[in-house]
Amino acid sequence: MANSNSNPSSIFSSNHIYYLAPLLTVAIALTLFLPSFLGSSPPPSPSPSLPISDKEDNTEIPINITTAVDSIGTRQREPFSDLKLAYDRWDSEVGCSQFREKFRRWKVNASVVQPADAVGCSELKLDHVSVWAKAVSWVPDILDGLYECRCGLSCLWTQNEVLAHPADVEFYQALGPPETRKTGEPLRAFIDLEAWRQPSKHEDIFISYHSSSDVQATYAGKTFRITHSYHIADKKREDVLVYWSSSRCIGHRDATAKSFLSLVPHHSFGHCLNNVGGDDIAPTMYPDCQMEDNPVPHWWDHLHCAMSHYKFVLAIENTWTESYVTEKLFYALEAGAVPIYFGAPNVWDLVPPNSIIDASKFESVEKLAEYIKAVAEDPVAYAEFHAWRRCGVLGNYGKVRLASLDTLPCRLCEFASKKGGRNAPSTQ
Ligand SMILES: *[C@@H]1O[C@H](CO)[C@@H](O)[C@H](O)[C@H]1NC(C)=O
Ligand SMILES: *[C@@H]1O[C@H](CO)[C@@H](O)[C@H](O)[C@H]1NC(C)=O
Repeated sequence: MANSNSNPSSIFSSNHIYYLAPLLTVAIALTLFLPSFLGSSPPPSPSPSLPISDKEDNTEIPINITTAVDSIGTRQREPFSDLKLAYDRWDSEVGCSQFREKFRRWKVNASVVQPADAVGCSELKLDHVSVWAKAVSWVPDILDGLYECRCGLSCLWTQNEVLAHPADVEFYQALGPPETRKTGEPLRAFIDLEAWRQPSKHEDIFISYHSSSDVQATYAGKTFRITHSYHIADKKREDVLVYWSSSRCIGHRDATAKSFLSLVPHHSFGHCLNNVGGDDIAPTMYPDCQMEDNPVPHWWDHLHCAMSHYKFVLAIENTWTESYVTEKLFYALEAGAVPIYFGAPNVWDLVPPNSIIDASKFESVEKLAEYIKAVAEDPVAYAEFHAWRRCGVLGNYGKVRLASLDTLPCRLCEFASKKGGRNAPSTQ
């Protein structure tokens, strides 16, 4: 997400959709993950196994519930473009009750997400907290406002110093907070959503994507996509299977993308490995994605809409580390596509069951590509990758959304109230 300090411009600018990871993390990622893709190409692999336990409760229900994704490659190949018809087929051949039963006891790590009631009502010291969101760039303006939070707490979030006066919290995003704070001065909150989650060392409240921070802000919220065209196509392309866009051409990510994309029909829209004839081609290719109120459209304005024309979206994190699951994956889910994901090893702790194709579960990119081609011509199996949005919330996903940037104001105010706001004793 946002580049740490060199260029605090909008996340929606092309250079900030994808970010440079430190060389060290790149090296670690290469060491950890690339060797598994160097093997040769055996036949299509079965559905990646998911962590399902039969030990969680004492019911007699069998754990081996098989659904369409367990028999990919056994059905007649059947090219299709109509998602609605695929849904109907899946409903009659599998259905939500089977799906829910299969994933009812799905094992996820609840600790990857902070609970909405992380701060207890009895811990609150103030019933109103005022946050001055100072020097923000990618943190959206629409967060500004007065919020009614839990336990009778109210929270004012504003980018205006006067409206916030006297502030209990100063929120810093691009530039770090001042080194010292005296009692009576606002608490210093600092957000860094990058993989390295580097505290400034001067803040009183640290915010990152990870649950171990004072306050968590996951990427699963809607505030990251407010300027985008959100029109979703009804039909999926049959000829080109995979969408990709990346405009920060990081060596390891390009190498991963290239090795996989060379094996499947794809469109690459960004600066990196562009094969559609330019960066801003999406609105021309897909007139349904054009936004009338945007005089100078850029390809990232059309991300969701362009993605929605494809069955699959390639999502490769710039850093592959625990719980670092970013907008690259969530955009694809929201756009009605199936992410092919290279990134956090514990990604299943943050996404709904059967919502993505986890590349780490495949022995080689060749096997992954064969699997993708098989799913693309299996409407029942493909529809099953959309079952998560049709059969009720399963896994941690609902909670991960509730811990996103969308809900940051109240959660930050609750934490600040617990600390006593500007009356909190100075740490000097
Ligand atoms: C589940 O399926 C596997 C493989 O098909 C089989 O070995 C195992 O006995 C089954 N377990 C149950 C509880 O049915
Ligand atoms: C569960 O998630 C927490 C927080 O990310 C992590 O520290 C812990 O190691 C995870 N536990 C397991 C068993 O993976």
